[in-house]
Amino acid sequence: MTRRPILIHPDPRLRRTADPVETVNDATRALVDEMLETMYAAPGIGLAAPQIGVLQRVFVMDCSGRDAEEGEPEPPADPVALINPEIVWFSEETAVEREGCLSIPEMYEDVTRPAKIRIRYLDRDGGEQEQEWEGIRAVCAQHELDHLNGKLFIDYLGSVKRTMITSKMKKLKRERAKDKAK
Ligand code: NI
Repeated sequence: MTRRPILIHPDPRLRRTADPVETVNDATRALVDEMLETMYAAPGIGLAAPQIGVLQRVFVMDCSGRDAEEGEPEPPADPVALINPEIVWFSEETAVEREGCLSIPEMYEDVTRPAKIRIRYLDRDGGEQEQEWEGIRAVCAQHELDHLNGKLFIDYLGSVKRTMITSKMKKLKRERAKDKAK
């Protein structure tokens, strides 16, 4: 398996709308495996295909680490792949969670979202699934689904905060490019 580089904001590929997967096949499963490996290595609890430059409606998540009261289980503990996901219901009740993003490293901000969702998707075998999630899984799934629509969690913040975070990321990218050139 291969780890893929994760795109850092700002990047036009993080702002595009991803295309639906027409058929879930071995290529889809290979993509899912690469995404899971990339996510665990980061480490992160969710990763969407556009974050590795693949504009397909696929994301992976594993929130099991957050379930453990002490210590984290050895990954992969509860890897989930969602293909062509769709939120079919969300609660009026909202919840605030501190969010971060592998494409916006080291930045964490409170985001308000519906507390519960029902989500329909295809699994890695192409089977239809429907799940109702709350807590960290609901947050993670909404955050990752946003990526498939070119949306980032900083879009929920005020423009001052968003601009500040974006300039920090530009600086980070310049520094990383410099390190690479050395
Ligand atoms: Ni993200």
